[in-house]
Amino acid sequence: MTKLKALNGFKDIVPGEVELWQRVEAKARDIFSRFNFSEIRMPILEKTELFARSIGEATDIVEKEMYTFVDKQITMRPEATASLLRAYIQHGLHVQKPVQRLFTIGPMFRHERPQKGRLRQFHQMDVEVLGAANPRVDAELMAMGAMLLQDLGVSVSLEMNSLGCPDCRPVFRKVLLDFIEERYEALCDDCKRRSTSNPLRVLDCKNPACREQVTEAPSIQDHLCDGCSEHFTAVQESLQQLGVDYSLNKFMVRGLDYYSRTTFEFITTDLGAQAAVGAGGRYDGLVEQLGGPKNVPGIGFALGIERLVLLLQQQEEEMEKNTIDLFVVGLGEKASQYAFPLVHSLRKNGLQTAMDHEGRSLKSQMKQANKAGARYALIIGENELEQGQAVLRNMESQEQQDVAIGSDIDGISNLLVEKI
Ligand code: HAM
Repeated sequence: MTKLKALNGFKDIVPGEVELWQRVEAKARDIFSRFNFSEIRMPILEKTELFARSIGEATDIVEKEMYTFVDKQITMRPEATASLLRAYIQHGLHVQKPVQRLFTIGPMFRHERPQKGRLRQFHQMDVEVLGAANPRVDAELMAMGAMLLQDLGVSVSLEMNSLGCPDCRPVFRKVLLDFIEERYEALCDDCKRRSTSNPLRVLDCKNPACREQVTEAPSIQDHLCDGCSEHFTAVQESLQQLGVDYSLNKFMVRGLDYYSRTTFEFITTDLGAQAAVGAGGRYDGLVEQLGGPKNVPGIGFALGIERLVLLLQQQEEEMEKNTIDLFVVGLGEKASQYAFPLVHSLRKNGLQTAMDHEGRSLKSQMKQANKAGARYALIIGENELEQGQAVLRNMESQEQQDVAIGSDIDGISNLLVEKI
């Protein structure tokens, strides 16, 4: 009988890993509550129309990635913002409080090609602020994301852009289209298609040929209307006030259509192609567009839990790997007796050093050295001891060199400190 397995892109979270998820979620809840956010939970299934009207008909998500029950016109949510706004409008949450600060944590579904850090069922920690237009809120949200990531020990960089508003974006679109038209033939098929439906997406195409074509592309930052430009400057000033590091990225356009003004991404270099650990931005017209009250500005972001957990796992492996400088392998009682004070002297000398006291075999001690993440192993056999020689092995490169050993333990210890 064939073994039943989880679907491709769908993953069990088993003991051993689930603890990291709990850590990430607990830290997020802690930080979100410090910033005065309340939790909201929405259903996984929504009307397909909700996503088409918010994320945008011409986006990759809506065009090709949604899990939709076509006959029932319902879809498994590919992200949380649209559902959260639907719930906000449905429950009249704007009446209860002029500014709502809400977060939600849960699974999202996109039919993407699975790879490291990219799944078909993935989990987001999503935060949204509804009813606040002040650029300080943009900075506050980015600062909250940065604080959470820093507290988790994850190192990322924050990149930011402005996508303007319905007044200035069409002007930039035109400027960009002129630029793209001159390079049309050199673009990939996707970009050729996008250049009519959504030319801004050409700016963030991953295809190296397209990337090369757009390096000199005009920047939307130079084409913002006065209102958007002031907002963009004020966000940056507020970030500086809070001491949050960021850089500007004119190529960041995001894959969802609802954004206006500020967009941002938390980027890592440690996950290969899946560089965004979190992303978000402002979407000032969206509440109204979904049938809600007028003039309710909004901004939010979502962090991908799988990517965070991967980063934490990698870091833990790194930490384990680098736990010690040297493992001294003593083979037989005499060699162990010799190694014992040598290890002590090396530790006095500042080296993180370990040895085995159970008389284990060479193979087993080398295994221990590997597990301890030793950078070097010093192998002392009985014969070598008699000949006044030991072997120093670089555990990574596997290179070996002979080291003269004798009765001057501290002298050998000093020599090893120099070599390691
Ligand atoms: P997004 O950029 O599509 O934005 O996704 C946000 C984050 O979710 C990504 O940065 C990534 O960490 C994670 N993510 C997305 N797709 C996958 C996947 N297939 N596998 C694993 N992780 C993934 C949004 O979803 C917006 N709703 C964010 C937002 C909130 N904007 C305003 N408010």
